Amino acid sequence: MENYKKIIEDIYLDVKNVNDIGKVANYIPELAFVDSNSFGINITTINKESFGIGDFNTKFSIQSVSKVLSLTLAYKFEGAKLWERVDVEPSGNPFNSLLQLEADLGKPRNPFINSGAIVICDVLLSHLENPKEDFLEFCREVSNIPTLEYNEKVAQSEKSSGFRNTALCNFIKSFGNIKNDVDAVLDFYFHMCSLEMTCKELSEIVLYLADDNFTTHKGKRILTMSQAKRVNAILLTCGFYDESGEFAFRVGLPGKSGVGGGIVAIHPDKYCIAVWSPKLNVKGNSYKGMLFLEKFTSKTASSIF
Ligand code: DON
Repeated sequence: MENYKKIIEDIYLDVKNVNDIGKVANYIPELAFVDSNSFGINITTINKESFGIGDFNTKFSIQSVSKVLSLTLAYKFEGAKLWERVDVEPSGNPFNSLLQLEADLGKPRNPFINSGAIVICDVLLSHLENPKEDFLEFCREVSNIPTLEYNEKVAQSEKSSGFRNTALCNFIKSFGNIKNDVDAVLDFYFHMCSLEMTCKELSEIVLYLADDNFTTHKGKRILTMSQAKRVNAILLTCGFYDESGEFAFRVGLPGKSGVGGGIVAIHPDKYCIAVWSPKLNVKGNSYKGMLFLEKFTSKTASSIF
C-alpha cells in the first residue's frame, strides 16, 4: 500500500493541474449541479487496506457503474440462462444507441449499454418482490455499507428527460424481450442509476470481483469464481461503450464508467480503484478519470497484461 499511496499522491497532483477538456453531463438536468472541479480517488486492496485522496469521501451519482451490481444480481438469479436475453459482445456504439437493436431482434449486445441494462432491470423485476428496496438491500449487503441510498431528485430528473431510454425499453418490448410493464422497468432503471456512493464506497463494493475468496460480513459468496471471471471479461470488453478498446489499451484493467464522472477499475487478486471527476470526454467517460488510471497502471506496472 505504501508504494501505491506515494504514486497516487504524485499522479493526483499532476492530473489535478491538467486542463480538463471534458464537459459535465447535463442531459439529466440534476447532474449538472455538481461541482465540476471535484476530483477524488480511492484504492482498496483485497486485504482491505484503503487509501483515498481529494474528494474521495464525497457522494456522487454512480449512474452506469450501478450496472455492474444489477448484472451481478441478475446473474445470481439466472445463471447462464441470462445470456439468452442479453449478449456479451462489445457494441462499438454509444451507450444510448438504438441502432443495432433492430438487426439483433431486440437482444442487446451487452449488459452495460443502456439497452442491456434495461433488459437486466426487467429480469430483476421478475425475481424481486420489491425491486427498488431489494436491490438497494443487495448493494448494502455486498458493500457492508448500510447507509447506501438512491438520490430521488436524480431519479426523477432522469425520468422527466429519459426519452431515449423510454424509446429503448418500448422498442425491446416490441420484440418480446421485456416481460414487465415498461413504466415499472424504467422507474427501477432510473432509481438504480441514481445510486450515490463515495470513491471509497465504490472501491469497496466491487471487491467481490477482485478477491476469489470474498464473502460478505454474513459469510455469503456473491458470485462463483467462474461467474466473477466472466463479469470481469465483459467489463474489460464492454465497460466503456465505444471506448472500451481505448480503456483496455491505455489502462489495461476491467472497469466501468458512469456519466456522473465515476470510474471503478478492478485488478483481479490485487485491488479495486475508484476515481471521480465529473467532466466527461465525448464518449461519456470521465476525462481525468481515464487519464489518472492510465498513469496509475503505467507507474505501478499493475495492469492485467
Ligand atoms: O441511462 C442513462 O443515460 C444514465 N442513467 C446512465 C448512463 C451512463 O452512465 C453512461 N455512462 N457513461
